[in-house]
Amino acid sequence: MSTKTDSWGSRVGLILAMAGNAVGLGNFLRFPVQAVQNGGGAFIIPYLVCFLVMGIPLLFIEWSTGRYGGKYGNHSTPYILDTMAKGRIWKYIGVFGIFTNIAVAAYYCYIESWTMSYVYHSIVGTFNGMSQADVAGFFNSYVDVAHSTTGIPYEAVVFYVICLLLNTYILSKGLGGIEKVAKIGMPLLILFGVILAVRGLTLGTSGASDIFPEANAWDGLNFLWTPQFDSLSNPKVWLAAAGQIFFTLSVGMGTIHCYAAYLKERDDIALNAVSAGFMNEFVEVVLGSLIVIPIAAGYLGLDWVIQNAGFGMAFQTMPYLFQQWGDVIAIFAGVFWFGLLFFAGITSSLAMGTPWMGFMRDEFNWSKNKGAWSFGLLALTMGLPTVVFYNEGLFDQYDYWAGTVSLVVFAFLETILFSYIFGIKKGWSEINKGADIKLPGIYKYVILIVTPALLGWVLISSIPDWIDKVKDSDTHNKEWFANTYYAENFDASGNTKGKVVEVSPQHVKLAFDNE
Ligand code: PHE
Ligand code: NA
Repeated sequence: MSTKTDSWGSRVGLILAMAGNAVGLGNFLRFPVQAVQNGGGAFIIPYLVCFLVMGIPLLFIEWSTGRYGGKYGNHSTPYILDTMAKGRIWKYIGVFGIFTNIAVAAYYCYIESWTMSYVYHSIVGTFNGMSQADVAGFFNSYVDVAHSTTGIPYEAVVFYVICLLLNTYILSKGLGGIEKVAKIGMPLLILFGVILAVRGLTLGTSGASDIFPEANAWDGLNFLWTPQFDSLSNPKVWLAAAGQIFFTLSVGMGTIHCYAAYLKERDDIALNAVSAGFMNEFVEVVLGSLIVIPIAAGYLGLDWVIQNAGFGMAFQTMPYLFQQWGDVIAIFAGVFWFGLLFFAGITSSLAMGTPWMGFMRDEFNWSKNKGAWSFGLLALTMGLPTVVFYNEGLFDQYDYWAGTVSLVVFAFLETILFSYIFGIKKGWSEINKGADIKLPGIYKYVILIVTPALLGWVLISSIPDWIDKVKDSDTHNKEWFANTYYAENFDASGNTKGKVVEVSPQHVKLAFDNE
Protein backbone atom coordinates (compact mmCIF):
# COMPACT_ATOMS: atom_id res chain seq x y z
CA MET A 1 0.00 0.00 0.00
CA SER A 2 1.07 3.51 -0.53
CA THR A 3 -0.21 6.95 0.17
CA LYS A 4 -2.18 8.95 -2.35
CA THR A 5 0.15 11.46 -3.89
CA ASP A 6 -1.46 11.78 -7.30
CA SER A 7 -4.99 12.63 -8.31
CA TRP A 8 -6.98 13.88 -11.27
CA GLY A 9 -6.99 17.66 -11.67
CA SER A 10 -10.67 18.01 -12.51
CA ARG A 11 -13.72 16.10 -13.66
CA VAL A 12 -13.16 17.28 -17.22
CA GLY A 13 -9.57 16.12 -16.97
CA LEU A 14 -10.67 12.72 -15.71
CA ILE A 15 -13.29 12.30 -18.42
CA LEU A 16 -10.85 13.30 -21.13
CA ALA A 17 -8.15 11.03 -19.76
CA MET A 18 -10.59 8.12 -19.61
CA ALA A 19 -11.87 8.95 -23.09
CA GLY A 20 -8.29 9.27 -24.26
CA ASN A 21 -7.56 5.89 -22.77
CA ALA A 22 -10.47 4.38 -24.68
CA VAL A 23 -10.32 6.28 -27.97
CA GLY A 24 -7.25 5.09 -29.75
CA LEU A 25 -5.80 3.36 -32.75
CA GLY A 26 -8.35 0.67 -32.04
CA ASN A 27 -11.14 2.96 -33.22
CA PHE A 28 -9.60 4.11 -36.47
CA LEU A 29 -7.34 1.24 -37.47
CA ARG A 30 -8.37 -1.94 -35.65
CA PHE A 31 -12.15 -1.71 -35.82
CA PRO A 32 -12.30 -1.46 -39.63
CA VAL A 33 -9.92 -4.37 -39.97
CA GLN A 34 -11.79 -6.61 -37.54
CA ALA A 35 -15.03 -5.75 -39.27
CA VAL A 36 -13.66 -6.55 -42.71
CA GLN A 37 -11.96 -9.76 -41.65
CA ASN A 38 -15.09 -11.02 -39.98
CA GLY A 39 -17.49 -10.50 -42.79
CA GLY A 40 -18.42 -6.80 -42.68
CA GLY A 41 -22.14 -6.62 -41.90
CA ALA A 42 -21.84 -10.04 -40.31
CA PHE A 43 -19.63 -8.54 -37.62
CA ILE A 44 -21.80 -5.61 -36.64
CA ILE A 45 -24.58 -7.47 -34.83
CA PRO A 46 -22.37 -9.47 -32.46
CA TYR A 47 -20.32 -6.32 -32.01
CA LEU A 48 -23.28 -4.24 -30.83
CA VAL A 49 -24.63 -7.04 -28.67
CA CYS A 50 -21.23 -7.36 -27.02
CA PHE A 51 -21.15 -3.63 -26.38
CA LEU A 52 -24.48 -3.64 -24.58
CA VAL A 53 -24.26 -6.80 -22.53
CA MET A 54 -20.52 -7.05 -21.93
CA GLY A 55 -18.87 -3.72 -22.68
CA ILE A 56 -21.09 -1.45 -20.60
CA PRO A 57 -21.31 -3.89 -17.66
CA LEU A 58 -17.54 -4.28 -17.64
CA LEU A 59 -17.10 -0.53 -17.61
CA PHE A 60 -19.27 -0.41 -14.47
CA ILE A 61 -17.37 -3.29 -12.93
CA GLU A 62 -13.95 -1.84 -13.64
CA TRP A 63 -14.72 1.73 -12.64
CA SER A 64 -16.27 0.66 -9.36
CA THR A 65 -13.62 -1.95 -8.62
CA GLY A 66 -10.94 0.65 -9.19
CA ARG A 67 -12.54 3.28 -6.98
CA TYR A 68 -13.12 0.67 -4.30
CA GLY A 69 -9.47 -0.43 -4.30
CA GLY A 70 -8.31 3.17 -4.37
CA LYS A 71 -10.18 3.80 -1.15
CA TYR A 72 -7.68 1.46 0.52
CA GLY A 73 -4.73 3.24 -1.03
CA ASN A 74 -4.18 0.71 -3.84
CA HIS A 75 -3.35 1.81 -7.36
CA SER A 76 -2.56 -1.35 -9.26
CA THR A 77 -4.73 -4.19 -10.51
CA PRO A 78 -3.20 -6.93 -8.33
CA TYR A 79 -3.72 -4.92 -5.16
CA ILE A 80 -7.11 -3.64 -6.20
CA LEU A 81 -8.43 -7.12 -6.96
CA ASP A 82 -6.89 -8.28 -3.71
CA THR A 83 -9.08 -5.87 -1.73
CA MET A 84 -12.18 -7.46 -3.26
CA ALA A 85 -11.69 -11.01 -2.06
CA LYS A 86 -9.61 -13.23 0.11
CA GLY A 87 -7.05 -15.50 -1.48
CA ARG A 88 -3.89 -14.71 -3.37
CA ILE A 89 -5.19 -16.05 -6.64
CA TRP A 90 -6.83 -12.72 -7.51
CA LYS A 91 -3.55 -10.97 -7.07
CA TYR A 92 -2.02 -13.25 -9.67
CA ILE A 93 -4.88 -12.59 -12.02
CA GLY A 94 -4.09 -8.91 -11.63
CA VAL A 95 -0.50 -9.64 -12.55
CA PHE A 96 -1.69 -11.50 -15.64
CA GLY A 97 -3.53 -8.31 -16.63
CA ILE A 98 -0.34 -6.34 -16.25
CA PHE A 99 1.48 -8.57 -18.67
CA THR A 100 -1.33 -8.21 -21.15
CA ASN A 101 -0.75 -4.47 -20.94
CA ILE A 102 2.92 -4.82 -21.66
CA ALA A 103 2.37 -7.16 -24.59
CA VAL A 104 -0.29 -4.92 -26.09
CA ALA A 105 1.80 -1.80 -25.50
CA ALA A 106 4.68 -3.50 -27.31
CA TYR A 107 2.93 -3.78 -30.66
CA TYR A 108 0.56 -0.87 -30.11
CA CYS A 109 3.49 1.51 -29.77
CA TYR A 110 4.84 0.15 -33.02
CA ILE A 111 1.75 1.35 -34.87
CA GLU A 112 1.92 4.56 -32.89
CA SER A 113 5.47 5.03 -34.15
CA TRP A 114 4.29 4.72 -37.77
CA THR A 115 2.08 7.75 -37.17
CA MET A 116 5.13 9.73 -36.02
CA SER A 117 7.10 8.73 -39.06
CA TYR A 118 4.20 9.60 -41.35
CA VAL A 119 3.93 13.05 -39.80
CA TYR A 120 7.58 13.50 -40.66
CA HIS A 121 7.17 12.23 -44.21
CA SER A 122 4.12 14.43 -44.74
CA ILE A 123 6.15 17.47 -43.73
CA VAL A 124 9.14 16.74 -45.93
CA GLY A 125 6.87 15.95 -48.87
CA THR A 126 7.84 12.32 -49.38
CA PHE A 127 4.47 11.50 -50.89
CA ASN A 128 4.43 14.36 -53.40
CA GLY A 129 3.57 13.09 -56.84
CA MET A 130 3.33 9.47 -55.73
CA SER A 131 0.82 7.17 -57.39
CA GLN A 132 -1.45 5.02 -55.24
CA ALA A 133 0.84 2.06 -55.93
CA ASP A 134 3.83 4.10 -54.77
CA VAL A 135 2.12 5.12 -51.54
CA ALA A 136 1.21 1.54 -50.75
CA GLY A 137 4.65 0.37 -51.78
CA PHE A 138 6.23 2.90 -49.44
CA PHE A 139 4.51 1.33 -46.48
CA ASN A 140 5.50 -2.17 -47.52
CA SER A 141 9.06 -1.04 -47.76
CA TYR A 142 8.82 0.74 -44.39
CA VAL A 143 7.81 -2.37 -42.47
CA ASP A 144 10.32 -4.53 -44.29
CA VAL A 145 12.88 -3.27 -41.81
CA ALA A 146 16.02 -4.89 -43.18
CA HIS A 147 15.46 -3.84 -46.81
CA SER A 148 13.65 -0.62 -46.28
CA THR A 149 14.35 2.22 -48.70
CA THR A 150 12.30 4.94 -47.06
CA GLY A 151 15.15 7.32 -46.40
CA ILE A 152 16.38 6.79 -42.86
CA PRO A 153 18.28 3.53 -42.27
CA TYR A 154 16.26 1.15 -40.11
CA GLU A 155 13.66 3.85 -39.95
CA ALA A 156 10.93 1.68 -38.44
CA VAL A 157 13.18 0.75 -35.52
CA VAL A 158 14.34 4.31 -35.02
CA PHE A 159 10.81 5.68 -34.74
CA TYR A 160 9.76 2.79 -32.55
CA VAL A 161 12.47 3.57 -30.04
CA ILE A 162 11.68 7.29 -30.13
CA CYS A 163 8.03 6.52 -29.53
CA LEU A 164 8.79 4.34 -26.52
CA LEU A 165 11.12 6.98 -25.11
CA LEU A 166 8.40 9.58 -25.40
CA ASN A 167 5.87 7.37 -23.65
CA THR A 168 8.35 6.62 -20.90
CA TYR A 169 9.14 10.27 -20.41
CA ILE A 170 5.48 11.33 -20.10
CA LEU A 171 4.70 8.41 -17.79
CA SER A 172 7.51 9.47 -15.51
CA LYS A 173 5.65 12.77 -15.02
CA GLY A 174 2.56 11.09 -13.60
CA LEU A 175 -1.15 11.79 -14.06
CA GLY A 176 -0.74 15.48 -14.81
CA GLY A 177 1.14 14.67 -18.01
CA ILE A 178 -1.51 12.22 -19.14
CA GLU A 179 -4.27 14.71 -18.45
CA LYS A 180 -2.54 17.47 -20.38
CA VAL A 181 -2.00 15.33 -23.46
CA ALA A 182 -5.65 14.24 -23.39
CA LYS A 183 -6.95 17.80 -23.08
CA ILE A 184 -5.15 18.90 -26.22
CA GLY A 185 -5.49 15.74 -28.25
CA MET A 186 -9.09 14.68 -27.83
CA PRO A 187 -10.92 17.76 -29.16
CA LEU A 188 -8.59 18.05 -32.15
CA LEU A 189 -9.02 14.41 -32.92
CA ILE A 190 -12.78 14.65 -33.10
CA LEU A 191 -12.65 17.75 -35.28
CA PHE A 192 -10.37 16.29 -37.91
CA GLY A 193 -12.07 12.92 -37.68
CA VAL A 194 -15.35 14.55 -38.67
CA ILE A 195 -13.77 16.33 -41.64
CA LEU A 196 -12.31 13.10 -42.99
CA ALA A 197 -15.48 11.14 -42.33
CA VAL A 198 -17.38 13.60 -44.50
CA ARG A 199 -14.78 13.06 -47.19
CA GLY A 200 -15.16 9.29 -46.88
CA LEU A 201 -18.92 9.65 -47.28
CA THR A 202 -18.67 11.84 -50.34
CA LEU A 203 -15.81 10.15 -52.15
CA GLY A 204 -18.01 7.84 -54.23
CA THR A 205 -16.28 6.66 -57.37
CA SER A 206 -14.51 9.95 -57.91
CA GLY A 207 -11.58 8.57 -55.97
CA ALA A 208 -11.03 5.66 -58.28
CA SER A 209 -7.58 5.94 -59.73
CA ASP A 210 -6.80 4.80 -63.25
CA ILE A 211 -5.14 1.79 -61.64
CA PHE A 212 -8.39 0.56 -60.16
CA PRO A 213 -11.15 2.11 -62.23
CA GLU A 214 -13.84 0.02 -60.55
CA ALA A 215 -13.05 1.23 -57.07
CA ASN A 216 -15.99 2.71 -55.21
CA ALA A 217 -16.20 4.06 -51.68
CA TRP A 218 -19.81 2.96 -51.33
CA ASP A 219 -18.83 -0.68 -51.80
CA GLY A 220 -16.91 -0.35 -48.57
CA LEU A 221 -19.81 1.20 -46.70
CA ASN A 222 -22.31 -1.33 -48.02
CA PHE A 223 -20.03 -4.18 -47.08
CA LEU A 224 -19.78 -2.86 -43.55
CA TRP A 225 -23.39 -1.99 -43.00
CA THR A 226 -25.40 -4.73 -44.68
CA PRO A 227 -26.22 -6.95 -41.73
CA GLN A 228 -25.76 -10.67 -42.25
CA PHE A 229 -27.34 -13.05 -39.85
CA ASP A 230 -25.53 -16.22 -40.82
CA SER A 231 -22.51 -15.32 -38.73
CA LEU A 232 -24.45 -15.24 -35.50
CA SER A 233 -23.67 -18.87 -34.80
CA ASN A 234 -19.98 -18.54 -35.58
CA PRO A 235 -17.90 -18.44 -32.35
CA LYS A 236 -14.90 -17.04 -34.20
CA VAL A 237 -16.89 -13.93 -35.11
CA TRP A 238 -18.14 -13.59 -31.54
CA LEU A 239 -14.64 -13.86 -30.17
CA ALA A 240 -13.48 -11.18 -32.57
CA ALA A 241 -16.45 -8.96 -31.70
CA ALA A 242 -15.98 -9.36 -27.95
CA GLY A 243 -12.26 -8.85 -28.35
CA GLN A 244 -12.78 -5.65 -30.31
CA ILE A 245 -15.30 -4.29 -27.80
CA PHE A 246 -12.88 -4.93 -24.94
CA PHE A 247 -9.91 -3.62 -26.83
CA THR A 248 -11.65 -0.45 -27.86
CA LEU A 249 -13.20 0.25 -24.46
CA SER A 250 -9.86 -0.60 -22.81
CA VAL A 251 -11.42 -3.19 -20.54
CA GLY A 252 -9.94 -6.54 -19.60
CA MET A 253 -6.41 -5.37 -18.79
CA GLY A 254 -6.70 -3.19 -15.71
CA THR A 255 -6.08 0.28 -17.10
CA ILE A 256 -9.53 1.49 -16.07
CA HIS A 257 -9.11 0.15 -12.55
CA CYS A 258 -5.89 2.05 -12.23
CA TYR A 259 -7.33 5.32 -13.51
CA ALA A 260 -10.42 4.93 -11.35
CA ALA A 261 -8.32 4.22 -8.27
CA TYR A 262 -7.63 7.96 -8.17
CA LEU A 263 -11.34 8.80 -7.81
CA LYS A 264 -12.78 9.92 -4.51
CA GLU A 265 -15.21 7.76 -2.66
CA ARG A 266 -18.34 9.64 -3.67
CA ASP A 267 -17.27 10.59 -7.16
CA ASP A 268 -19.75 9.52 -9.80
CA ILE A 269 -19.05 6.30 -11.67
CA ALA A 270 -22.26 5.46 -13.45
CA LEU A 271 -22.53 8.54 -15.64
CA ASN A 272 -18.81 8.83 -16.23
CA ALA A 273 -18.50 5.23 -17.38
CA VAL A 274 -21.48 5.47 -19.69
CA SER A 275 -20.31 8.76 -21.20
CA ALA A 276 -16.79 7.55 -21.83
CA GLY A 277 -18.16 4.33 -23.34
CA PHE A 278 -20.59 6.06 -25.68
CA MET A 279 -18.07 8.67 -26.69
CA ASN A 280 -15.73 5.88 -27.68
CA GLU A 281 -18.45 4.10 -29.64
CA PHE A 282 -19.35 7.25 -31.52
CA VAL A 283 -15.75 7.72 -32.57
CA GLU A 284 -15.49 4.07 -33.53
CA VAL A 285 -18.75 3.24 -35.24
CA VAL A 286 -19.30 6.59 -36.91
CA LEU A 287 -15.86 8.10 -37.51
CA GLY A 288 -13.91 4.84 -37.53
CA SER A 289 -16.06 3.23 -40.17
CA LEU A 290 -16.41 6.30 -42.39
CA ILE A 291 -12.75 6.98 -42.94
CA VAL A 292 -10.35 4.19 -43.75
CA ILE A 293 -12.65 1.60 -45.34
CA PRO A 294 -14.58 3.80 -47.77
CA ILE A 295 -11.50 5.77 -48.70
CA ALA A 296 -9.42 2.63 -49.28
CA ALA A 297 -12.30 1.03 -51.19
CA GLY A 298 -12.67 4.26 -53.16
CA TYR A 299 -9.11 4.14 -54.42
CA LEU A 300 -8.22 0.47 -54.44
CA GLY A 301 -11.50 -1.35 -54.58
CA LEU A 302 -13.23 -3.56 -52.05
CA ASP A 303 -11.28 -6.66 -53.13
CA TRP A 304 -8.03 -5.02 -52.19
CA VAL A 305 -9.48 -3.96 -48.87
CA ILE A 306 -10.64 -7.47 -48.05
CA GLN A 307 -7.33 -9.04 -48.98
CA ASN A 308 -5.11 -6.45 -47.37
CA ALA A 309 -7.12 -5.60 -44.29
CA GLY A 310 -4.57 -4.75 -41.64
CA PHE A 311 -3.34 -1.98 -39.40
CA GLY A 312 -1.41 -0.62 -42.36
CA MET A 313 -4.42 0.12 -44.55
CA ALA A 314 -4.67 3.75 -43.51
CA PHE A 315 -0.98 4.25 -44.19
CA GLN A 316 -1.25 2.71 -47.61
CA THR A 317 -4.06 4.93 -48.78
CA MET A 318 -4.56 8.19 -46.89
CA PRO A 319 -1.41 9.96 -48.13
CA TYR A 320 -2.63 9.35 -51.67
CA LEU A 321 -5.97 10.96 -50.86
CA PHE A 322 -4.17 13.98 -49.41
CA GLN A 323 -2.07 14.30 -52.55
CA GLN A 324 -5.25 14.83 -54.55
CA TRP A 325 -5.75 18.04 -52.60
CA GLY A 326 -2.47 19.53 -53.82
CA ASP A 327 1.03 19.47 -52.34
CA VAL A 328 0.52 22.22 -49.80
CA ILE A 329 -2.80 21.08 -48.36
CA ALA A 330 -1.38 17.57 -48.37
CA ILE A 331 1.24 18.64 -45.85
CA PHE A 332 -1.39 19.98 -43.46
CA ALA A 333 -3.75 17.09 -44.00
CA GLY A 334 -0.97 14.58 -43.40
CA VAL A 335 0.19 16.32 -40.27
CA PHE A 336 -3.34 16.55 -38.92
CA TRP A 337 -4.43 13.03 -39.69
CA PHE A 338 -1.30 11.21 -38.61
CA GLY A 339 -0.82 13.67 -35.77
CA LEU A 340 -4.27 12.94 -34.49
CA LEU A 341 -3.77 9.21 -34.84
CA PHE A 342 -0.66 9.79 -32.80
CA PHE A 343 -2.64 11.56 -30.06
CA ALA A 344 -5.27 8.85 -30.12
CA GLY A 345 -2.50 6.30 -29.76
CA ILE A 346 -0.42 7.92 -27.09
CA THR A 347 -3.32 8.67 -24.74
CA SER A 348 -3.98 4.93 -24.88
CA SER A 349 -0.44 3.62 -24.66
CA LEU A 350 0.16 5.82 -21.63
CA ALA A 351 -2.79 4.11 -19.99
CA MET A 352 -1.15 0.75 -20.63
CA GLY A 353 1.85 1.84 -18.61
CA THR A 354 -0.09 2.70 -15.47
CA PRO A 355 -0.89 -0.82 -14.18
CA TRP A 356 2.77 -1.79 -14.19
CA MET A 357 3.88 1.47 -12.60
CA GLY A 358 1.16 1.23 -9.98
CA PHE A 359 2.15 -2.32 -9.16
CA MET A 360 5.83 -1.49 -8.77
CA ARG A 361 4.78 1.30 -6.48
CA ASP A 362 2.30 -0.70 -4.39
CA GLU A 363 4.65 -3.65 -4.10
CA PHE A 364 8.14 -2.14 -3.96
CA ASN A 365 7.47 1.54 -3.47
CA TRP A 366 9.25 2.34 -6.72
CA SER A 367 9.38 5.94 -7.90
CA LYS A 368 7.55 7.05 -11.03
CA ASN A 369 10.85 7.33 -12.82
CA LYS A 370 11.88 3.81 -12.07
CA GLY A 371 8.41 2.51 -12.86
CA ALA A 372 8.24 4.32 -16.19
CA TRP A 373 11.70 3.30 -17.40
CA SER A 374 11.26 -0.31 -16.47
CA PHE A 375 7.97 -0.31 -18.36
CA GLY A 376 9.62 1.20 -21.43
CA LEU A 377 12.35 -1.42 -21.34
CA LEU A 378 9.92 -4.30 -20.98
CA ALA A 379 7.80 -3.05 -23.86
CA LEU A 380 10.91 -2.64 -26.00
CA THR A 381 12.06 -6.16 -25.26
CA MET A 382 8.70 -7.63 -26.11
CA GLY A 383 8.14 -5.36 -29.07
CA LEU A 384 11.35 -5.54 -31.04
CA PRO A 385 10.66 -9.03 -32.39
CA THR A 386 7.30 -7.87 -33.77
CA VAL A 387 9.05 -4.97 -35.45
CA VAL A 388 11.77 -7.04 -37.03
CA PHE A 389 9.53 -9.94 -38.01
CA TYR A 390 6.50 -7.93 -39.00
CA ASN A 391 6.10 -9.70 -42.31
CA GLU A 392 6.29 -13.11 -40.66
CA GLY A 393 2.99 -12.51 -38.91
CA LEU A 394 4.30 -12.27 -35.34
CA PHE A 395 2.54 -8.96 -34.97
CA ASP A 396 -0.84 -10.53 -35.67
CA GLN A 397 -0.12 -13.24 -33.14
CA TYR A 398 0.41 -10.63 -30.44
CA ASP A 399 -2.77 -8.90 -31.41
CA TYR A 400 -4.67 -12.16 -31.26
CA TRP A 401 -3.33 -13.53 -27.99
CA ALA A 402 -2.71 -10.36 -26.01
CA GLY A 403 -5.16 -8.03 -27.74
CA THR A 404 -8.11 -10.42 -27.99
CA VAL A 405 -7.98 -13.69 -26.07
CA SER A 406 -6.35 -12.35 -22.89
CA LEU A 407 -8.87 -9.55 -22.58
CA VAL A 408 -11.77 -11.96 -22.74
CA VAL A 409 -10.15 -14.28 -20.18
CA PHE A 410 -9.45 -11.43 -17.75
CA ALA A 411 -12.92 -9.96 -18.23
CA PHE A 412 -14.51 -13.32 -17.49
CA LEU A 413 -12.53 -13.76 -14.28
CA GLU A 414 -13.17 -10.27 -12.96
CA THR A 415 -16.89 -10.59 -13.66
CA ILE A 416 -16.99 -13.76 -11.58
CA LEU A 417 -15.06 -11.99 -8.85
CA PHE A 418 -17.39 -9.01 -8.90
CA SER A 419 -20.73 -10.77 -9.13
CA TYR A 420 -20.13 -13.95 -7.16
CA ILE A 421 -17.24 -13.45 -4.79
CA PHE A 422 -17.39 -9.81 -3.91
CA GLY A 423 -21.13 -10.27 -4.41
CA ILE A 424 -23.55 -8.52 -6.74
CA LYS A 425 -25.37 -6.87 -3.86
CA LYS A 426 -22.30 -5.05 -2.66
CA GLY A 427 -21.16 -4.58 -6.23
CA TRP A 428 -24.38 -2.98 -7.38
CA SER A 429 -24.35 -0.56 -4.49
CA GLU A 430 -20.73 0.34 -5.25
CA ILE A 431 -21.75 1.18 -8.82
CA ASN A 432 -24.62 3.34 -7.64
CA LYS A 433 -22.77 5.11 -4.88
CA GLY A 434 -22.45 8.78 -5.81
CA ALA A 435 -24.10 8.12 -9.18
CA ASP A 436 -25.31 11.12 -11.15
CA ILE A 437 -27.81 9.00 -13.07
CA LYS A 438 -30.23 6.31 -12.07
CA LEU A 439 -29.26 3.05 -13.71
CA PRO A 440 -31.98 0.70 -14.89
CA GLY A 441 -32.25 -2.13 -12.37
CA ILE A 442 -32.13 -4.69 -15.13
CA TYR A 443 -28.42 -4.06 -15.48
CA LYS A 444 -27.90 -5.68 -12.12
CA TYR A 445 -29.14 -8.95 -13.60
CA VAL A 446 -27.23 -8.45 -16.79
CA ILE A 447 -24.03 -8.19 -14.76
CA LEU A 448 -25.02 -11.16 -12.63
CA ILE A 449 -26.14 -13.51 -15.38
CA VAL A 450 -25.86 -12.38 -18.98
CA THR A 451 -22.34 -10.97 -18.92
CA PRO A 452 -20.62 -13.99 -17.35
CA ALA A 453 -22.73 -16.45 -19.35
CA LEU A 454 -21.94 -14.87 -22.70
CA LEU A 455 -18.29 -14.43 -21.74
CA GLY A 456 -18.06 -18.06 -20.72
CA TRP A 457 -19.70 -19.21 -23.92
CA VAL A 458 -17.42 -17.07 -26.10
CA LEU A 459 -14.37 -18.38 -24.27
CA ILE A 460 -15.22 -22.03 -24.44
CA SER A 461 -16.60 -22.09 -27.94
CA SER A 462 -13.65 -20.24 -29.37
CA ILE A 463 -11.10 -22.75 -28.11
CA PRO A 464 -10.98 -24.53 -31.48
CA ASP A 465 -10.03 -21.21 -33.03
CA TRP A 466 -7.14 -20.87 -30.56
CA ILE A 467 -5.92 -24.29 -31.53
CA ASP A 468 -6.06 -23.39 -35.21
CA LYS A 469 -4.10 -20.29 -34.45
CA VAL A 470 -1.37 -22.23 -32.66
CA LYS A 471 -1.24 -25.01 -35.20
CA ASP A 472 -0.90 -23.33 -38.49
CA SER A 473 -1.55 -19.66 -38.45
CA ASP A 474 1.71 -18.72 -39.96
CA THR A 475 2.06 -21.38 -42.60
CA HIS A 476 -1.58 -20.91 -43.37
CA ASN A 477 -1.17 -17.21 -43.92
CA LYS A 478 1.88 -17.67 -46.02
CA GLU A 479 0.21 -20.25 -48.20
CA TRP A 480 -2.77 -18.07 -48.66
CA PHE A 481 -0.66 -15.10 -49.60
CA ALA A 482 1.43 -17.21 -51.93
CA ASN A 483 -1.64 -18.53 -53.71
CA THR A 484 -3.18 -15.13 -54.05
CA TYR A 485 0.08 -13.79 -55.28
CA TYR A 486 0.31 -16.51 -57.86
CA ALA A 487 -3.24 -16.16 -59.04
CA GLU A 488 -2.91 -12.47 -59.47
CA ASN A 489 0.45 -12.34 -61.07
CA PHE A 490 0.50 -15.32 -63.34
CA ASP A 491 -1.97 -16.68 -65.83
CA ALA A 492 -2.97 -20.33 -66.13
CA SER A 493 0.04 -21.25 -68.15
CA GLY A 494 2.44 -19.59 -65.74
CA ASN A 495 3.26 -16.46 -67.72
CA THR A 496 3.45 -13.33 -65.66
CA LYS A 497 0.64 -10.89 -66.19
CA GLY A 498 2.57 -7.75 -65.36
CA LYS A 499 5.86 -6.38 -64.21
CA VAL A 500 6.50 -7.08 -60.55
CA VAL A 501 8.01 -4.14 -58.75
CA GLU A 502 7.48 -4.86 -55.12
CA VAL A 503 6.63 -8.07 -53.38
CA SER A 504 6.19 -8.61 -49.72
CA PRO A 505 4.48 -11.67 -48.36
CA GLN A 506 1.54 -9.70 -47.04
CA HIS A 507 0.87 -7.35 -49.87
CA VAL A 508 0.37 -8.78 -53.25
CA LYS A 509 -2.10 -6.68 -55.11
CA LEU A 510 0.18 -3.77 -55.57
CA ALA A 511 2.94 -5.79 -57.03
CA PHE A 512 2.44 -4.17 -60.40
CA ASP A 513 3.96 -1.21 -61.97
CA ASN A 514 1.14 0.28 -63.98
CA GLU A 515 2.44 2.50 -66.64
N1 PHE B 1 -8.80 1.35 -26.21
C1 PHE B 1 -7.58 1.60 -26.92
C2 PHE B 1 -7.87 1.74 -28.40
O1 PHE B 1 -8.98 1.62 -28.84
C3 PHE B 1 -6.54 0.54 -26.70
C4 PHE B 1 -6.34 0.17 -25.28
C5 PHE B 1 -6.60 -1.10 -24.85
C6 PHE B 1 -5.87 1.10 -24.37
C7 PHE B 1 -6.41 -1.45 -23.55
C8 PHE B 1 -5.67 0.77 -23.05
C9 PHE B 1 -5.95 -0.52 -22.63
O2 PHE B 1 -7.01 1.99 -29.17
NA1 NA C 1 -11.13 2.66 -28.44
